[in-house]
Amino acid sequence: MASAPSAGAAAPDIARRMAEAADLVTVALDELLPRADGPEARLTEAMRYVALGPGKRLRPFFALETGAMFDVAERSVLRAACALECIHAYSLAHDDLPCMDDDDLRRGRPTAHKAYDEATALLAGDALQTAAFEILAHPDTHADGAIRAELIMRLAQASGARGLAGGQMIDILGVRDDLGGVARMQRLKTGALIACAFELPLTLARAKDSERHAMMAFAHDLGLAYQIVDDLLDAEGDANRLGKAVKKDAAKGKANFVTLLGVEAARERLGLLSAQTKTHLEPFGAAAEFLRASVDFVLERQS
Ligand code: IPE
Ligand code: IPE
Ligand code: MG
Ligand code: MG
Ligand code: MG
Repeated sequence: MASAPSAGAAAPDIARRMAEAADLVTVALDELLPRADGPEARLTEAMRYVALGPGKRLRPFFALETGAMFDVAERSVLRAACALECIHAYSLAHDDLPCMDDDDLRRGRPTAHKAYDEATALLAGDALQTAAFEILAHPDTHADGAIRAELIMRLAQASGARGLAGGQMIDILGVRDDLGGVARMQRLKTGALIACAFELPLTLARAKDSERHAMMAFAHDLGLAYQIVDDLLDAEGDANRLGKAVKKDAAKGKANFVTLLGVEAARERLGLLSAQTKTHLEPFGAAAEFLRASVDFVLERQS
């Protein structure tokens, strides 16, 4: 299929690359997620509703792209990408529950507890979380058990009390009233899993420390930019395009980058971050062209 000409002749077709990655992961997840008979079929259907819904599959894209840069076997990195998306999807289903953000709309559809019920949404999240570790633990992910154990440890750390779950606790408690507090929450709540999307393929590749450090610096800045954009979209995005409710943080009196900095200063900060983020990819040259282009995608996204 012919694609529309891009502005710069040599500009990589990032939208297409990301769409291909998303399709690959959706198909793989469909195969990996269980289908049960009997009463538990309701649970496996809800898991599929949560995980296979129309998300951007950003974390899987970062993982696949990093895997390609470091010549990791696609089968291995695809399984790691699916594990990341299972954790992300579970976190969204739980984040939307009445006891958390109490949201009705996610990815343009009813949230899991609206489509099913609260208990089913909770269980679907639980089972997606364990599915992630089951996928990583399977020998198909890597022949070497030590590598598999390291993948499991890294994903567990990114998901647990010093990662996503800890960040959600800070969010719910509202214990942050300055930029430092918001930045710390972001590093745990969303930054840790985004960083893990790079760590898993780097583990599979047995990357050198110098490569790891450069990629982690990139992941850190990218995760920060991602969250500032999420906060900007919450403040002034369009609910129809986003597929989720907007103006939630201000309505709940929750401090975020935009409520503290204001829209203009948040945009200025993003401008600075854009250049800084790409600098970390310099050692990787042309091999990093799609990751470099994905920074612009993250900054310019409207959904
Ligand atoms: C949204 O994540 C929620 C946060 C972690 C801030 P994404 O923006 O990656 O959402 P999907 O997966 O595309 O729906
Ligand atoms: C969700 O953050 C973060 C996780 C699920 C870990 P938000 O509550 O800001 O995400 P949205 O705005 O509902 O997507
Ligand atoms: Mg939340
Ligand atoms: Mg939320
Ligand atoms: Mg948000």
